Parts: sequence; C-alpha cells; structure tokens
Amino acid sequence: MRLQKFLARAGVASRRHAEALIAEGRVTVNGAVMSEMGAKVTPGVDAVAVDGELVVLPAETVTLMLHKPAGYVTTMSDPQGRPTVAELVDGAACPGLFPVGRLDADTTGLLLFTTDGELGQLLLHPRHHVTKTYLALVEGALEEADAARLRAGIELEDGPTLPADVSILRGADARRAAALIGDDAQASGTRQRHGGKRSRTALEGAGTYVEVGLREGRKRQVRRMLEAVGHPIIALHRQSLGPLDLGELDRGAFRILTEQEVGALKSAS
Ligand code: URA
Repeated sequence: MRLQKFLARAGVASRRHAEALIAEGRVTVNGAVMSEMGAKVTPGVDAVAVDGELVVLPAETVTLMLHKPAGYVTTMSDPQGRPTVAELVDGAACPGLFPVGRLDADTTGLLLFTTDGELGQLLLHPRHHVTKTYLALVEGALEEADAARLRAGIELEDGPTLPADVSILRGADARRAAALIGDDAQASGTRQRHGGKRSRTALEGAGTYVEVGLREGRKRQVRRMLEAVGHPIIALHRQSLGPLDLGELDRGAFRILTEQEVGALKSAS
C-alpha cells in the first residue's frame, strides 16, 4: 500500500496532507525518514511513524452472510468429514472467520459469519438476541389455536419459550414462502420423512406454511416448538436476522456486508 494511502487510512491526515507530511520529512518507515512519494509499505510489517509516533491501521474486520443450502453442517471443520459451511465461504479467504450461531444441517437460509469477535459475542449474548425470522413448511393443518399457543410461549424440556411472532401463511404469502424455502430444502425434508419420494407440498393441501419470529436461539428451537404443537417440520429456512434479509442472494452464495449493514446489526443488538 502506498505510504500516503496508509496514513490516510490510519486517520492521520487526508491524502494531500499526508503528502505534505512526507515531503516535510516528518514520516519514517522502519526508523528511516521516507521523503519519496510513491513508497510502498506493508501494514503490520513495516513500522510507520509520524513525528516519532507509531501509526497503526485500525484492524479491519469482515462480516458476511451466506445463503446456506441444505446438507451442510455449521462448523469450520468436521471430524466426521461431512460437508461444512466452511467450504462455501472459503472464497472469502478471511483468517479468523467463524459462523455466528448455527443452522441445523437440514435448515437453509441466512447464516452470518464474522472475523469480529466482539460482534459475534454481542449477537450470541442471550440478552441481546436480535429477531430471527424463519419460514417453515410443517406437516398437517396448523390451526390458529396452535399459532396462539406458540405466540404465548410453550413449555419445552429446557424451559418455556419467550413470546414469539407466529403467522400462518396462505395464498400469495404461502406461494412466496414456498419459493423462498426452495426446492433443496423441501426435497431434503420430504425425502427424509417419506422414504425418498417427494410428498405433496403444502400448496397442494398436505401441510402448512408458517412464519416464526424468535428473539432467542436455543438448539433446534423452531423444530421443537412446532413438534410440541403436533406439526413436525418438513422444511425450515431462515429469511432474516435483525435488520438483514437474505434478499436475492443465490443458494450457496455469500456476500460481504457493508459498513452500514454491520452498523445496523450492532444497533439492533
Ligand atoms: N431452529 C431450529 O430448529 N433449527 C435451526 O436450524 C434454526 C432454528
């Protein structure tokens, strides 16, 4: 990186002012005055100082969202050799990247990764949980009374759930959910349950599409909640996490979040 860019990135001066500092002989690289304008420095390797004061770049962190397909376990390495989400984000080539929370192997949708330990802790802290919105295809006809029980909070073996947002989706909303859940989720869920044959979908009357918004994140929570009211999940997909929505991101693809998106995530938690 050019020296004047390094100084500007570090917040010492504007590019033009940085050039003036260099010309005035006030900048040293590894202890030697550097008055050459195009000089290159390597952040973290070369010691750059202005008026004798060491200058460092603020640590850059990367946060990204992945559209997780079914069939990948949420871990960066798996001793059992199963496909992992690490394979899907290795193109980002960021040392220290880790998944924030987890999605079950069969669950599809928005999975966040970051190299920012503080952000990860903030989002995973039970008191700061942001709302996560799931779309589910469940077995049978889920009734309004079941939805009301889930909204109020129900007893699971690890304690009662917090109040949740639960909507039964019909018509255009159900069609939109079916498109978002996508073929791979439905295929994996239905194949498991129905011995390899694709079952009829909810749109053909064999199940119900539901939207569930949770402000907590216990292991297999959505699956256990729906099972507790007698409607096991056929397919589960996370569409949004706090202010972030999966949008048009292709299944299996990831994208790096903008500074504004990371800021919004921090404010939401
Ligand atoms: N709840 C579940 O049951 N599974 C997931 O993958 C995410 C939330």
